[in-house]
Amino acid sequence: MSAAEHKADAAQSAPAEKRAVTMEKIVNLCKRRGFVFPTSDIYGGLGSTYDYGPLGAELKRNVKEAWWRYMVQERTDVIGLDSAILQHPKTWEASGHLKNFTDPLVDCKKCHHRFRADQIPDPTKCPDCGGELTEARQFNMMLKTFLGPVEDTASTVYLRPETAQGIFANFANIVDTQRVKLPFGVAQMGKSFRNEITPENFIFRTREFEQMEMEYFIKPDEAEEARWFDYWVEHRRNWFLKFGAKRENLRFHQHPKEELSHYSRGTTDLQYHYPFGWGELEGVAKRGSYDLDQHAAASGKDLTYFDEDAKARYRPWVIEPALGVDRAMLVFLLDAYDEDVVENEERIVLRLDPRLAPIKAAVYPLLRKGGQPEKANEVLLRLKKHFTVAYDQAGSIGRRYRRQDEVGTPFGITVDHQTMEDDTVTLRDRDTMTQDRIAIPKLAEELTSRIGWSA
Ligand code: GAP
Repeated sequence: MSAAEHKADAAQSAPAEKRAVTMEKIVNLCKRRGFVFPTSDIYGGLGSTYDYGPLGAELKRNVKEAWWRYMVQERTDVIGLDSAILQHPKTWEASGHLKNFTDPLVDCKKCHHRFRADQIPDPTKCPDCGGELTEARQFNMMLKTFLGPVEDTASTVYLRPETAQGIFANFANIVDTQRVKLPFGVAQMGKSFRNEITPENFIFRTREFEQMEMEYFIKPDEAEEARWFDYWVEHRRNWFLKFGAKRENLRFHQHPKEELSHYSRGTTDLQYHYPFGWGELEGVAKRGSYDLDQHAAASGKDLTYFDEDAKARYRPWVIEPALGVDRAMLVFLLDAYDEDVVENEERIVLRLDPRLAPIKAAVYPLLRKGGQPEKANEVLLRLKKHFTVAYDQAGSIGRRYRRQDEVGTPFGITVDHQTMEDDTVTLRDRDTMTQDRIAIPKLAEELTSRIGWSA
């Protein structure tokens, strides 16, 4: 996100409405139940870097699966790519990132604290001690490393700050090897790195994060551009709604000219109402032919597309929906979080869409005798071929349900005395609390239909 975009985020921040969820509750739940741990916890952490625990890894996998299915697999006009994190350094010169991917940095001459000049009320006065601030200097956010044993300018490479450039750099390879016809999209997901001056708000803004981006190539024509831009803006909001984000917590923000990134002809953000205020969730940008033009000029390679119908060669224009995986996870967790009372007991429940839930079902033997644990294990192994399933035999059945409710497990399967007689189990629904009796051989099919897909 550019400096101007950060500024827009801050300006639009509004006090959060009263809802059950707070950042503190989500951060605690994520640590307590193994969704997210601070990186290098045993060494005291590493400034705003996080590891995903067993449940976080599953949730992340499901969020990415949800994106890939809707953006690639189920469409006929989008294909996938998985390009390297390290690119030729000329990539970043051509893309404009070396020159423009900067934030204005100021230091306090008295307390030596650092700030982003565009994020504090007075860029001359330290918000912590009132001391005088240095002049703002532009700080490039790309993380550097070296290839090979010599650490000099010739061996300097950058960890990509966006996945997008790998797509533009592969444009000719894709056109030459795939039977693509405009309009078509190339999607990829993967790690990006930004040396953010002020990483903040848990996994909202970190220095290492994952992106899911798609470059949608279209004819260079303003009417086409407007049509596809509107289409993708709406599509991306609908994707969030489909997977459990609340409509009232989403809104659009159109960037005024002075906020636009160096490559953009127009950007609309999908914003979310975080507990700390409204902020960017996803950006949809009109990149025109900026990137292909820049790379064609820098590499001397032909990055045109031959339009069979018009019998003309040109560099297509691009519409780009760009989203952070970690930010999407945060939003789904925030909107899933709920507290209610069940059987006179307070519970925390994550009402995650079953497709996103890290564990799809938990299997419980009602008693630890009478062959029930063995039968429950049999059910577990049968279902594990299809879904991520947990097994729990510790404590009362009510407590076991609560434990799974708290991590969003949509279904509970109880093996009881009747199971031993007729090979049926009870299937409990996390949200409606209804319990149905299902024959074990039909369980996988029943769960697939209730979950919505079989991954
Ligand atoms: N290729 C365009 C691009 O990278 P961006 O707005 O800078 O645009 C796209 O980033 C998305 O990536 C953002 O909307 C956000 O969801 C996510 N993102 C950006 N910086 C991030 C950070 N430091 N931590 C977590 N997610 C980030």
